Amino acid sequence: MAEIEICPLDELGPGKMRLVPAGTMTIGVFNCGGSFHAIEDRCSHDDGPLAEGDWDPEACVVVCPRHGSRFDLETGIPMSLPAFEAVKTFPVSVRDGMVVVDVEE
Ligand code: FES
Repeated sequence: MAEIEICPLDELGPGKMRLVPAGTMTIGVFNCGGSFHAIEDRCSHDDGPLAEGDWDPEACVVVCPRHGSRFDLETGIPMSLPAFEAVKTFPVSVRDGMVVVDVEE
């Protein structure tokens, strides 16, 4: 596992999202009402960008901008077609005032 520092905690308040490069991937880190979730920015349906889609911080759901599949940000599991496979998720923690993601290489 590799750890990536995302940003100071106060820069990622509730309802905010950050896109960060992580090796060959890009990761979206979301704050759903104080709980942090990270997913790979790649839809499991057609490899399109996912984290840039509209998202609902209360439901903690992101909508793929290409074909509209809705994904649970906590589990990465799609809630509607056409996607049917989960996207990668990564553990997020807060350490010394920084948001940190553990990224599997
Ligand atoms: S690329 Fe995301 S639903 Fe098709």
